[in-house]
Amino acid sequence: MTLIKGIKNAAEAIREGRLVAFPTETVYGLGANALDAQAVRKIFVAKGRPLNDPLIVHVCPEWLADAGNGAATPHPYFEALFQQGIIGELTETQQARLSLLIYACWPGPLTLVLPRGEQIPMLVTAGGNTVAIRMPQHPIALALIAASGVPIAAPSANRFGHVSPTTAQHVRDDLAERVEIILDGGATSIGVESTVLNALPDVPIILRHGGVTKEQIEQILGQTIIDSKATDLTRAVLPSPGLLERHYAPDAVLQIMPDFAALVQRWGELTTAGQQVGLLLTRSQANAIPNIASAQHYVLGETLEDIARNLYAGLRALDSANMQFILMVALDRNGLGAAIMDRLQRGAVRDDKVTG
Ligand code: TXA
Ligand code: MG
Repeated sequence: MTLIKGIKNAAEAIREGRLVAFPTETVYGLGANALDAQAVRKIFVAKGRPLNDPLIVHVCPEWLADAGNGAATPHPYFEALFQQGIIGELTETQQARLSLLIYACWPGPLTLVLPRGEQIPMLVTAGGNTVAIRMPQHPIALALIAASGVPIAAPSANRFGHVSPTTAQHVRDDLAERVEIILDGGATSIGVESTVLNALPDVPIILRHGGVTKEQIEQILGQTIIDSKATDLTRAVLPSPGLLERHYAPDAVLQIMPDFAALVQRWGELTTAGQQVGLLLTRSQANAIPNIASAQHYVLGETLEDIARNLYAGLRALDSANMQFILMVALDRNGLGAAIMDRLQRGAVRDDKVTG
């Protein structure tokens, strides 16, 4: 089947209320018609996802207004999304701030928390008054949304709590026959999920670190923003279930080591104790281990972009090799390092599993 035919069939499935897995620039999504509560319910069932975890609604430029030349404020998308009942009303101040973000980041890995429109079922927002909206930067995702003619609700296409999928095979491994149609766009380019930002308050709050960095958002807005993990207060006031602990978890026990020397030492200890240990390494770390060929390891590349892109595939590969432990050296929380460390730290919360 050609890709175009595949997208046509997939769009038909979306309109009929069925599920479609599709690539985005971040991770693969498991999509359904966001306006159809029965269809959306199937996503929660297929993933084993609790109903209190809201979904991101994916949109495309085709059925929104022309974005113009980038100068118009407020951005014309607000009116289009409002007219279609996808979002609710925004103040002028909110529109001005959000316009800057949309011009700079859409399509792309920035999800914006907006007031829920009346056409969006409560199931999508987990009963909340806000809806998370994103315009992905991937030709297949955008073509699917355009051909469907409806917004597509889609979480990452993995079992709930597991590592997100960055290839079509990862989706098959996790969901098997629970999803009929998987559009295969190869490996995703960014590899960690979108950044979830609540820019409704005067001081915006990052609810989940992701493909667009805190530094980039601060530069676009010309102001300092809040990291949801910085204070327990914001966490209590504005919970995003993406903050759930034990998310993004491999089956093995994941341990984050403070530095390379600590990793090598821990590797020695565990191996001597007869444990199966897999190492997640940068290229230069791998080169620094003399007997690396005999070690179970996965090379992530060198830059933060490389590491983000390859992280989930690395975790899945070492899981498939039945490692009991996975070791990786911590990164600085700058730029994409924040999103990567965030995933690693959640994956490493394994109290029930740590046996030694
Ligand atoms: O990159 C991505 O965002 C991928 C691709 C498929 O687009 N999607 C994704 O979806 O990661 P999911 O469901 O795995 O994560 C959505 C995150 C969750 O942390 C959820 O709690 C948060 O977005 N979220 C959704 N709606 C929200 C809302 N109204 N307010 C606050 N957080 C929300
Ligand atoms: Mg997810």
